[in-house]
Formats: sequence, structure tokens, C-alpha cells
Amino acid sequence: MQMADTFILINLKTYPEGTWQRAHNIGGAAQQVAEESGVTIGIAPGFMDIHPMSVHYDIPVYAQHTDGADPGAHTGHITAYALKHAGATGSLVNHSERRLTLAEIDSAVASLRDAGLVSVVCSNNVATSAAAAALNPDFVAIEPPELIGSGVSVSKANPEIITKSVEAVSGVNPGVKVLTGAGIQSGECVKIALDLGTSGVLLASSVVKAKAPIAVLRDLVSLL
Ligand code: G3P
Repeated sequence: MQMADTFILINLKTYPEGTWQRAHNIGGAAQQVAEESGVTIGIAPGFMDIHPMSVHYDIPVYAQHTDGADPGAHTGHITAYALKHAGATGSLVNHSERRLTLAEIDSAVASLRDAGLVSVVCSNNVATSAAAAALNPDFVAIEPPELIGSGVSVSKANPEIITKSVEAVSGVNPGVKVLTGAGIQSGECVKIALDLGTSGVLLASSVVKAKAPIAVLRDLVSLL
């Protein structure tokens, strides 16, 4: 059954609704729905909230970005080493709202791997999905930028970009799993994404900005 391997990752971005004390609304709801459903639901809060979230909740906590810098004489960098000690499970890399060069993506993925953390490299089109897969991350997450935050689901508006990314990634590196995101908001969006060959979804606004995040989370897992 799809449920066992499905990964739903909620990016809290810098939304006030997902920051500091309000991050607990999302963390608590994610843990409850993960327990009810058996689906893996992770959260990616802001850096300052990684440690509180990882201490309070028994769900995967991801960073929204990692620098490839080694621990040492670097100032103002977020290292995989520090993320691991803050209790993170992994990190997004190259999100559309935090773009990196190819060399920076490569070093971030390598430093996450060295720290034993999971890497989720975001891509904006099929070509970058293939390029990202060549860097051997754990996941590539295809998100068409024009649909991010739009309320229009990639699963329905652009299923081709999902199937073509799945095909491109498996052609380059079959060990890499694919997520998709942008406008994901319902169980139907999640089901379509899985049917198109992904391992899950990456989403933000529909959960973070909801009056009742738990209701949206329950809907997201409802067809699994
Ligand atoms: O990281 C997920 C994100 O970029 C998608 O945002 O608000 O369209 O779910 P949203």
C-alpha cells in the first residue's frame, strides 16, 4: 500500500503562523495525524525553531536550507553539523525561495550526507530535476515556481512536470526518490502525486495558513 512509504513534508517557511510558539500548532497537529494515519509527516520550521520542535515532537524535523561549509572558520553559515546537533533529520536544499548555485547544492548535499542527514533538493523544471539527481541526494522535489503559494495544485495543473521529472530522475539515478509540491492542498492532490510516481509531497500554505491545520492534514492522508 502507498501509505507505508509516503512522505509529507510541511515547509513552515517564514510564515508568522509557523514561527516560534505558533510552530507548535503545526508540529502538534503533524504528530497527531502521523500517529493516527501511519504516514510519515515531517515539518521544516525556521532555523530558530528546529531545536524546540525536535525536542517536543517525535516527527522528522527538517531545515529549510543548509550551507555546504564545514564546521570551522565560517561566519553566518548553517552547517549540517549544527543541524544534526539541533535534532534535524535532514534539510531542503535549493528551494525556489532560497536558490543556490550547482556547486553550492553539491556541497550542501555532500555535507548533509557526511552528517548522516537526509537531503531534499528542490528543482524548478525537468532539466534541473535531472541535474539534481546526478548529485545523489535522497530526494528531488519538483516544484514549478509559478504554482508555489498559488492555491493551484501541481498535481492537477501540471502533472506532466511530475511524470517527466520522475522519469528523468530515475534515468539519471534510480536510487533517488521524488517529491512534488506547489499548491498541494487535499488528499486528492496527494493521491495524484503518488499515482504519478512520487514518494510524497512538499507543501506549505494550505496547512500553515489554515484555521485548523489538523483538518487539512487529515484530509491530506485521507486517500492513502
Ligand atoms: O516548500 C513547499 C512550497 O514551496 C509549496 O508552497 O504554499 O504552494 O504549498 P505552497
